Amino acid sequence: MGSKALQFFSFTLLLFFMFQAVFADLKHKNTSPFQFLRHLHGCHQGENIKDLHKLKKYLQNFGYLTYKNKTHFDDDDFDETLESAVRTYQLNYNLKASGSLDANTVSRMMRPRCAVADIVNGTSRMRSARTAIRDQNCSTPWTRDDAINPVSRAFQTWAENTHFSFSRTEDYVNADIRVSFESGEHGDGSSFDGPGGTLAHAFAPINGTFHYDSEEPWSVMPDPGAYHLETLALHEIGHLLGLGHSFQGAIMYPTFSLGESKGLHGDDIQGINALYNL
Ligand SMILES: *[C@@H]1O[C@H](CO)[C@@H](O)[C@H](O)[C@H]1NC(C)=O
Ligand SMILES: *[C@@H]1O[C@H](CO)[C@@H](O)[C@H](O)[C@H]1NC(C)=O
Ligand SMILES: *[C@@H]1O[C@H](CO)[C@@H](O)[C@H](O)[C@H]1NC(C)=O
Ligand SMILES: *[C@@H]1O[C@H](CO)[C@@H](O)[C@H](O)[C@H]1NC(C)=O
Ligand SMILES: [Zn+2]
Ligand SMILES: [Zn+2]
Repeated sequence: MGSKALQFFSFTLLLFFMFQAVFADLKHKNTSPFQFLRHLHGCHQGENIKDLHKLKKYLQNFGYLTYKNKTHFDDDDFDETLESAVRTYQLNYNLKASGSLDANTVSRMMRPRCAVADIVNGTSRMRSARTAIRDQNCSTPWTRDDAINPVSRAFQTWAENTHFSFSRTEDYVNADIRVSFESGEHGDGSSFDGPGGTLAHAFAPINGTFHYDSEEPWSVMPDPGAYHLETLALHEIGHLLGLGHSFQGAIMYPTFSLGESKGLHGDDIQGINALYNL
């Protein structure tokens, strides 16, 4: 497996940025795609609550919920399977494992996050402590080619801490990794959800696709009103290299606050070394 991966990652990297002129009114709306969770506050097993199926969809998306009988995804019954999924979520985020949608769980679930699932094939490395939720803020307009440097720095950081090397290419067709800004449904089966909610995603090897949600406010330097391009790039490159989500402190922790910036953690480097048997 190591040598196959090495072959893949000794290839070239293309930073492909789409220049969509949609910045002017990138103001934060008061509604987040995760807003529906607010109305589910307090619900617990045995109840039937309008829109509970949206919680099921949320937990399914992030790897927590599976039903053998798929019809249960569409109903609004808070059953045992859902309770168990909520409890697993709470354990991953170091919340009290009540199995019900208490206030802490709702506010944690509402935080903007990476779109990639926390649990893949039944495995999760997450153990975490809670962090403060920051207030949202408005974005400032910027041009998309500003993203090239932060994304390049993030690849450089991974290269310095691993045996991988990356180089930039203008050859879109033959690139192994493609980075772009996308919005809404954009053809890879994992649509973005407008401001807030999910911020970015990247697929596991050997796919090589990394997308930013273009409807978020993004910044080159840490800015209290925007998400930090380089920090999210470090995280998504981790997925491109095959890492899943990890605990708080690690770059592979799934949620991000406005203005938050961080670098690689020892856990991230250990994770990649373990994955490639280094
Ligand atoms: C799935 O669950 C629904 C509702 O409980 C039930 O009517 C249906 O027969 C079940 N389907 C299967 C295949 O078990
Ligand atoms: C999950 O498991 C399936 C079947 O065992 C396997 O084909 C797939 O590659 C696995 N996915 C990941 C991300 O490990
Ligand atoms: C929003 O951004 C402005 C300008 O950067 C800053 O002065 C203000 O404190 C920020 N507000 C919040 C709630 O972060
Ligand atoms: C990457 O995965 C997505 C989702 O499965 C798919 O739509 C896309 O075509 C894949 N890209 C490549 C280059 O394999
Ligand atoms: Zn992620
Ligand atoms: Zn995408």
